[in-house]
Amino acid sequence: MTQYQHATQKKMEELRKKSCVRILAIETSCDETAAAIIENGRKVLSNVVHTQIPLHVPYGGVVPEIASRSHVQKIGAVVRRALDEAGLALSDLDAVAVTSGPGLVGALLVGLNYAKGLAYAAGLPFLGVHHIAAHIAANYLSYPELKPPFTCLVASGGHSHIIVVEDDSTYRLLGRTRDDAAGEAFDKVARALGLPYPGGPNLERLALEGDPKKYRFHSAFNEGEGFDFSFSGIKTAVVNRMHNAAQAGEELNRADLAASFQHTIVSILADKAVRAAKAQTGDAGKRLALAGGVSANRALREAMESRAKKAGIEFFCPDFAYCTDNAAMVGSAAYDKLMRGQTDDLSLNAVPYLAIDEWMRGA
Ligand code: KG4
Ligand code: ZN
Repeated sequence: MTQYQHATQKKMEELRKKSCVRILAIETSCDETAAAIIENGRKVLSNVVHTQIPLHVPYGGVVPEIASRSHVQKIGAVVRRALDEAGLALSDLDAVAVTSGPGLVGALLVGLNYAKGLAYAAGLPFLGVHHIAAHIAANYLSYPELKPPFTCLVASGGHSHIIVVEDDSTYRLLGRTRDDAAGEAFDKVARALGLPYPGGPNLERLALEGDPKKYRFHSAFNEGEGFDFSFSGIKTAVVNRMHNAAQAGEELNRADLAASFQHTIVSILADKAVRAAKAQTGDAGKRLALAGGVSANRALREAMESRAKKAGIEFFCPDFAYCTDNAAMVGSAAYDKLMRGQTDDLSLNAVPYLAIDEWMRGA
């Protein structure tokens, strides 16, 4: 057994008796460099997010190489600030956690290797966390009393999943997108409307001035009985509407288009998520949560809340600070994994396409 393995084994034994467990969590899967310190998986002692948005604006989207380089430049200062804001030193921590996938491989590797280095130097247990499990766990930061089972809609830039969280390590995938993720569709339509990156929040802002019923975008696939989504046809319908109008010299109201597109996506997401919850037996059918970057969208939060209420289902969504990528949610998911006695070896690799069930099985 190596000196590091010996130190972490001792730490795991001590942890079982501790009433206060503090995890340093790191997130670098895409375009935010983030670090947080979380106590007992629910209390946020610090939550530092350095966004790279200004670096990617000139390109209209995330440039992976720029993202990786910026993470390298910023990670040290971001982790330092997370420790300072919590008023803690490395020696006060019990474990180091990091997003290990899915995400941009070069970006993931920065956080992963930094976390490994810290864990090794401080003799602390090390844990990899699945990005979607972390988004789901963001709900526990806002509702510390929330416990599985519940149904969850995860809508981010890379995923649109309906998942039944059976317990803190068992996720049952009910539905997924067949093509674009919800956030990706927002970003692509925003770009077509001439809005700067990041598209989702900018489109939401423009939609506030528009009529959501002005244009109708039908989608036979999404009206079906299943729980999978398809957003690429709707995105194409918006773009075609703009091209046809341009060719005919017709003036289109961009705010109306943005509002109508958002209304279409939000209705599909909310209807399907509530229908999925209603199809569950037991507590998973009584509670519905929202997660992922698109959960910052007010129209979606309101639609989900009112539909859930009508169906007699309790609704949960994270505070705005924990909707888009952050490390606090990573710390929350890591705590549950640590309490199950699960840690990772320092040989853990970044996995750009990591399915949530593979992570559950220890990938
Ligand atoms: O979870 P996240 O921060 O990163 C990924 O894991 O992908 O999600 C980012 C996605 C982007 O597509 C972004 O446009 C979208 O979430 N998003 C929004 C809003 N805020 C972020 N989409 C619609 N309305 C928003 N307010
Ligand atoms: Zn995310």
